[in-house]
Amino acid sequence: MHELTSPQEMRAWSRAERARNRRIGFVPTMGFLHEGHLRLVDRARERSDRVVLSIFVNPLQFGPNEDLAQYPRDLERDRRLAAARGVDCLFVPDVAAMYPTEPLVRVHPGPMGDTLEGAARPGHFAGVLTVVAKLFHYVEPDIAIFGRKDFQQAMLVQRMARDLDFGVEIDVAPTVRELDGLALSSRNTYLKGDDRRAALALSRALRAVEQAWRNGEADPKALQRRGLEVLRAPDVRPEYLELVDDQLRPVARADARTVVVLAARVGPARLIDNVVLGEGIASDVAVRTS
Ligand code: PAF
Repeated sequence: MHELTSPQEMRAWSRAERARNRRIGFVPTMGFLHEGHLRLVDRARERSDRVVLSIFVNPLQFGPNEDLAQYPRDLERDRRLAAARGVDCLFVPDVAAMYPTEPLVRVHPGPMGDTLEGAARPGHFAGVLTVVAKLFHYVEPDIAIFGRKDFQQAMLVQRMARDLDFGVEIDVAPTVRELDGLALSSRNTYLKGDDRRAALALSRALRAVEQAWRNGEADPKALQRRGLEVLRAPDVRPEYLELVDDQLRPVARADARTVVVLAARVGPARLIDNVVLGEGIASDVAVRTS
């Protein structure tokens, strides 16, 4: 596995591979890899000849009171996991390489970035889109894979690629969950003791909404009430539970394409999750991680 830290070397490596007619698949991450990231690598491998995985904890997407300093990091372990999964090139730039000067010009997400996570975390998506745009410029991928767990992020990256003609296909992969339903996230490492069990309220709430919809309820307000009943569990502080379409707009009636998105705090962790009603949680990937 190659390991590169300089954006210029990254671009040169990708261009050399493309000159040999190799398709490049890209998985951008903030590291502390888990099976969810590694499934994205598998998917990139299936659809390309060379897989690039980046690790960069992007300060631009963290608010002033968020967990940038505590964000979990373990580059040695990430290296081992990436190499074992067949990553061809690990790109690990540092902050000075990514932002040699204060990035005054940023990619603004527009109205799709103002709701849900965007409302809770002002400036977050401008930070995400700006770093993803820069990474795309260095890696020049044919296809980039994003997890559906970060639904709003995946939809915004898709729109950015389309609206700004990036010429890269954005593939959105199913959420990967523990067998008990908890969606994999690097932030699950913040869940200690009883918080781990309490966090199951998120997937339970999604299942409850899905079940009510399958039983014939299509009124988004009634479905929201049902979800919140379950999400309001001991030690869980719900932030939102909404029913939206793929452009993050509230729906007037729930149908198979409606996405239930939610966020809640459990102990020190702020967690998000979602389900597409017609697909259901059962269509996500379930793995045993320990
Ligand atoms: O989903 C993430 O890990 C990050 O938001 C991303 C896409 C790597 C950008 O920093």
